[in-house]
Amino acid sequence: MQWIAFATVRSAENAPEMLSYRHAFHAGNHADVFKHVTQLALLDYLNQKDKNYYYIDTHAGAGLYALTKGYAAKNTEYESGIGKLWQRHDLPEILARYVALVKTFNPGGALCCYPGSPLLAQRVMRAGDKSRLFELHPADYDLLTECCADKIKNKQVYVQKADGFTGIKAALPPPLRRGLVLVDPAYEVKSDYISVIRMLREGLLRFATGIYAVWYPLLSRPEVSVLAEKLEKLPFKTWLHVTLIVQKPAANGFGMFGSAMFIGNPPWTLAETLGRELPYLTERLRQDDAACFSVKTS
Ligand SMILES: C[S@@+](CC[C@H](N)C(=O)[O-])C[C@H]1O[C@@H](n2cnc3c(N)ncnc32)[C@H](O)[C@@H]1O
Repeated sequence: MQWIAFATVRSAENAPEMLSYRHAFHAGNHADVFKHVTQLALLDYLNQKDKNYYYIDTHAGAGLYALTKGYAAKNTEYESGIGKLWQRHDLPEILARYVALVKTFNPGGALCCYPGSPLLAQRVMRAGDKSRLFELHPADYDLLTECCADKIKNKQVYVQKADGFTGIKAALPPPLRRGLVLVDPAYEVKSDYISVIRMLREGLLRFATGIYAVWYPLLSRPEVSVLAEKLEKLPFKTWLHVTLIVQKPAANGFGMFGSAMFIGNPPWTLAETLGRELPYLTERLRQDDAACFSVKTS
């Protein structure tokens, strides 16, 4: 197991505006749980067929996050995310697999480390499957390459310090012609909401049959509802739009009250699979009476 080495904190004054976000502050929170459970369900589906595939992560993050020290320990967001599932013995199928996977990164038994999307993917991908990862933040890029060193060496994983929104063009269509694209920006700049749609439009022209999974936060901001509407109008043959609300929106309009996943070209089994897991997950992650989920299909 490799731990991330903590990077020097870039001060907000020195960091370029769009790179002030560090996922380590949020690792393992309710949004990560929802996103990674969906990701796992998608990879499980791809693994069912004896044909290799590409996993593309346009915003990969640092790979592996320490929870009990450094950034994640500041707000302990993981306690209301993965922490709510850690000791449970009554988890439904995919959630049980997800928690078991996270446990493989915590061999001591205590929850002290959380794998991000690229490392979770690598744990379930097979020898011939390949990953292509984009991460723009220099410190997180370094941490990511450290975590993936072995897989980079044997050419299963290719990591680029590049803009995932534009860099993906060169990655599509993937040579294996089967694949999952995870789109998980920080949405710290308003242009991310626009870039997601532009990227998906271009992606669809190059790789129309790929599975595209987009995560976005539920916030009381107009950009979020515009994004949700635009996603459903994209020319996917089929799509699935899932939300998980954990608390009522704050009266002052600030803060994330849940998150959503939009999946373009979803496996036909996904709505049913998530429909089985989400009642339990919502109950565990609920922070007040407003907690609920929704599953919408095209
Ligand atoms: C939400 S985090 C990713 C978390 C990761 N996908 C996971 O689930 O573990 C978003 C990441 O995107 C990076 N980032 C921001 N803008 C980017 C861009 N244009 N291209 C690639 N990465 C970017 C940030 O540095 C951050 O690490």
